[in-house]
Amino acid sequence: MDTSDRNRLSVTLVDVAEGKEAEFVALASQFGALLIRKKYGISEMIRDEAHPLRFYSVRRWNDAAAAAACHADLEVQKLTAKVYQLARVTHIVNGARPADPVRLMLDDQRAPLEADRRTGFDRRTSEHGRTEGDRRDGPDRRLGPRRLRHRPGEIDLVAAARRAREYADAAFSHFKVGAALETADGLVITGCNIENATFGLTTCAERVAMFKALSEGHRMFTRIAIVADASAPTPPCGACRQILWEFGGNLEVQLANLRESTGTYQLKDLLPLPFDARLL
Ligand code: THU
Repeated sequence: MDTSDRNRLSVTLVDVAEGKEAEFVALASQFGALLIRKKYGISEMIRDEAHPLRFYSVRRWNDAAAAAACHADLEVQKLTAKVYQLARVTHIVNGARPADPVRLMLDDQRAPLEADRRTGFDRRTSEHGRTEGDRRDGPDRRLGPRRLRHRPGEIDLVAAARRAREYADAAFSHFKVGAALETADGLVITGCNIENATFGLTTCAERVAMFKALSEGHRMFTRIAIVADASAPTPPCGACRQILWEFGGNLEVQLANLRESTGTYQLKDLLPLPFDARLL
């Protein structure tokens, strides 16, 4: 191994859902075999003695190029998307990022929460770069986390949304949609559309993902991926744009179909002149 690549190590914390352990262990061993077969590196799954459902996934990459190739590999993405369905995945060390040295990722991603002027729960991180008297006020006030953005590409959100789409219940429209929402601390919460006989009570994939996330205590989000089997982009409907805006702020919205990306947007561009708590 080249000296410059000695630190090419990725560590992920994996909390497996109850009852899913056998399925997870099988996926992990497939993942390990795939890494060896494709000469990307070696993967080891270490169980946390104190937490029966917690594992540390340690990947030692052969070199930086192997790490990057592995992240772009569709076969790998398919496997990791399955893991996202069984477990909460937190990236601790990412040795696959080309330019940066390996470093701990938790410190700069877990934003401190502090009191907010707005009603309801606090969705902000701390104020950055604004002195008193130079604050955004009234309709200029910002919703959602402040510039707490992941380096793009760290988590394959689209793969997670594709996987989530498989669970869609679209018996009436036959139009299945999957969504994957990334929290500020690097977790992925998925959703799919759920239809029912009244039609009107249908809930879109995006809102399922957001409400799942909120109901599990997540309050800060960075990106959402939305996947449908259509060549034209499937952007979120108006109702979803409103909910995503109010609870997620100016999210990055990644649209994709089963094969490719169909566009990336900022939510503020999809919902100009929004109505939100700042106007109440
Ligand atoms: N749908 C979504 O889940 N998300 C979107 O972004 C667009 C539409 C669902 C709702 C309904 O179940 C089906 O797609 C057809 O409208």
